[in-house]
Amino acid sequence: MGVPALIVAAGSGQRLGAGGPKALVELAGRPLYAWSVEAFRQASWVDRIYVAVPPGQADRFTEPGIVTVEGGETRSHSVANGLAAITAEGSPEMVVVHDAARPLVSPALIDAAVIGLDADVELHALIAAAPVTDTVKRLGEDGVVVETLNRSTLVSVQTPQVFRVGFLRDAIATGDLAAATDDASLIEAAGGSVGVIESPSGNIKVTVPGDLDLAALLLERNR
Ligand code: CTP
Ligand code: MG
Repeated sequence: MGVPALIVAAGSGQRLGAGGPKALVELAGRPLYAWSVEAFRQASWVDRIYVAVPPGQADRFTEPGIVTVEGGETRSHSVANGLAAITAEGSPEMVVVHDAARPLVSPALIDAAVIGLDADVELHALIAAAPVTDTVKRLGEDGVVVETLNRSTLVSVQTPQVFRVGFLRDAIATGDLAAATDDASLIEAAGGSVGVIESPSGNIKVTVPGDLDLAALLLERNR
């Protein structure tokens, strides 16, 4: 069994503020996205790696062995473009979607997510998520706390996210792509079942400048 992977790297990185695409910012001697590509190369169940890139910038994504696809206006549009390229070349049963902004993803987590979805016929998607360690409160319109949520029922959603391709394609076709911050929410909106797999605490997302320093430290620790 070999599953295609789609690494979405087409964002502009406004919050990082590096003056160019976040995926190309240097992290520990490599462009940020290359760390994710490396993890997917090492995953046993991944056989092809597609990367959604900022429009017009494919020639700057030079990691060997990847297929570049032009990204779209929002993250979900980039996933839609990538999925269209993947299904134009074959009919895989599952696909793994990952944010280039999470350079510390491990091959073990990728493989566990693929195997986990393959083994559970009830699920349409299996997504990496971390337990919530802060207490989370919901605010009213006036900014005053309305309630404290039960932390034991909450998770913080990450990538990789593995999908049954047919369901993801249908969910993308019918969903509100501009409003979705991940693809699993499109599956939920379409009535599908989404399971979670616990990700290790190091699977951080690079969003603001301080995250790059933390990612460099964690990569050094893992080496
Ligand atoms: N992404 C994408 N296409 C877009 C927007 C985002 O492929 N149109 C990707 C990003 O490259 C990133 C992932 O989705 O790997 C998560 O998005 P985020 O962390 O928000 O990255 P950016 O959108 O680049 O950052 P910002 O929101 O600060 O501009
Ligand atoms: Mg963004």
